[in-house]
Amino acid sequence: MTNRPALPPEIARRRTFAIISHPDAGKTTLTEKFLLFGGAIQMAGQVRAKGEARRTRSDFMKMEQDRGISVSASAMSFEYREFRYNLVDTPGHSDFSEDTYRTLTAVDAAIMVIDGAKGVESQTRKLFEVCRLRDLPILTFCNKMDRESRDTFEIIDEIQENLAIDVAPASWPIGVGRDFIGAYDLIHDRLDIMDRADRNKVAETVAISGLDDPKLEEHVPADLLEKLREEVEMARELLPAFDRQSFLEGHMTPIWFGSAINSFGVKELMDGIGEYGPEPLVQKATERDVAPEEKKVTGFVFKVQANMDPKHRDRVAFVRLVSGHFQRGMKLTHVRTKKPMSVSNPVLFLAADRELAEEAWGGDIMGIPNHGQLRIGDALTEGEVLHFTGIPSFAPELLQSVRATDPMKGKHLEKALMQFAEEGAAKVFKPAIGSGFIVGVVGALQFEVLASRIELEYGIPVRFEASQFTSARWVQGDKAAVEKLVNANKQHISYDHDGDVVFLTRLQWDIDRVARDYEGVTLSATKEMM
Ligand code: G4P
Repeated sequence: MTNRPALPPEIARRRTFAIISHPDAGKTTLTEKFLLFGGAIQMAGQVRAKGEARRTRSDFMKMEQDRGISVSASAMSFEYREFRYNLVDTPGHSDFSEDTYRTLTAVDAAIMVIDGAKGVESQTRKLFEVCRLRDLPILTFCNKMDRESRDTFEIIDEIQENLAIDVAPASWPIGVGRDFIGAYDLIHDRLDIMDRADRNKVAETVAISGLDDPKLEEHVPADLLEKLREEVEMARELLPAFDRQSFLEGHMTPIWFGSAINSFGVKELMDGIGEYGPEPLVQKATERDVAPEEKKVTGFVFKVQANMDPKHRDRVAFVRLVSGHFQRGMKLTHVRTKKPMSVSNPVLFLAADRELAEEAWGGDIMGIPNHGQLRIGDALTEGEVLHFTGIPSFAPELLQSVRATDPMKGKHLEKALMQFAEEGAAKVFKPAIGSGFIVGVVGALQFEVLASRIELEYGIPVRFEASQFTSARWVQGDKAAVEKLVNANKQHISYDHDGDVVFLTRLQWDIDRVARDYEGVTLSATKEMM
């Protein structure tokens, strides 16, 4: 299946992907079934806790407290057939979109799960747009076909129109709701029949030589069969056939119809990612493009998770390996500090457990425990200076000031905040004048989550309050010009966790004024994380 013969077989069999969906469409259920069929868990129900915990705010906090579950779910690997799947979790809540965007820089494809009754919902749409920016190939799973759903053509039309992408049916549902009995596999000419009695059982598959095959009559009631034949004939006339190249370029999505909770359509979807790919992709760096088949190991950090184990203040940096064959104990160069780093205890995430990784290949996701050296956007190489691009840092849209309710805890608070800033959970600004900190986030719920984490993980009760500022701009330019600006505008100046200068204000007028009055200085709403 490979169209890149230079890829070592170990890399060619890797599939690294994320699932994007609107809350409640069935992402957790689908993930669980993947793990079940991939042999990573023994019983359905082991990852349920996550889906349920997310339902309410207080439960969400509880989930954050129980780092075990949410963290091991950040990246999961499993084997199925000849393929090795790396599933990277995207946080479901819209307030965590920043984290989600970064996660999508670490994958080669995405599965879009939609609810058959609801179609394309807001969050799916947003995430889809991010995938499109990177031309990520997308496979679509239309879930909950065992419930009353929309008409199949209507669902496909909605995706085509709403998301401006061609949709090629890989399967066609037979019946709907209580009458849903399974699907016709349009790619392999097979009939897949759902087992309603056992939710974890894989569908029975019957080989069929085409829609006129009399075998169909043995399995499909006459009225449903007639409808199936009509619809498939129409679909073949009106809808494009699956074209792998167009899929790989992000112009076409194959769609499967199924029911995750009944394990229906899940294997077909897994086969789809396996067979159609993509294999680990070339990644762009400022210096050059890096291909996975290159012998030397390279990778970049796309996520940092602090305090996974509250007893040790360790952090895990999630690294997407871009190229090469990594072996435990290797010495890599940490490009930002130019320091060597012995990677002796990397971990792979296998469902509920983390496991020491003896080796990993381009395409894999590896966790590296560390004490804070590794930050989002950092590159690891065998010596070459590389800066991987495309890892976004968002302009915080909401600013609040934060204080410890116990003033004696100020220093501790600073440490906690800096850690969250490095994790990418928030932007933290230390004003040049006065005490306290300004925290910037993309979604309001992040303030609550932060307050709860600071209290839980550091034992510091804090109060977030309205800030006098509403906008933050990174100040860039030559040293003398920046200094001039800083000295004349002390009340607006603050420093982020890297020590970079940030201009805070509530007036657009101030921003315009700086642009006009200070030559050689630019104010930027984002800072590329490198
Ligand atoms: P999410 O992670 O995308 O938010 O969705 P999740 O898997 O948690 O599923 C949301 C709800 O939809 C769950 O019901 C789940 O059982 C249900 N569901 C998932 N797949 C299917 C399906 O194929 N058919 C039907 N009918 N339902 C499905 P819940 O009532 O919220 O939770 P639970 O009580 O079932 O655990």
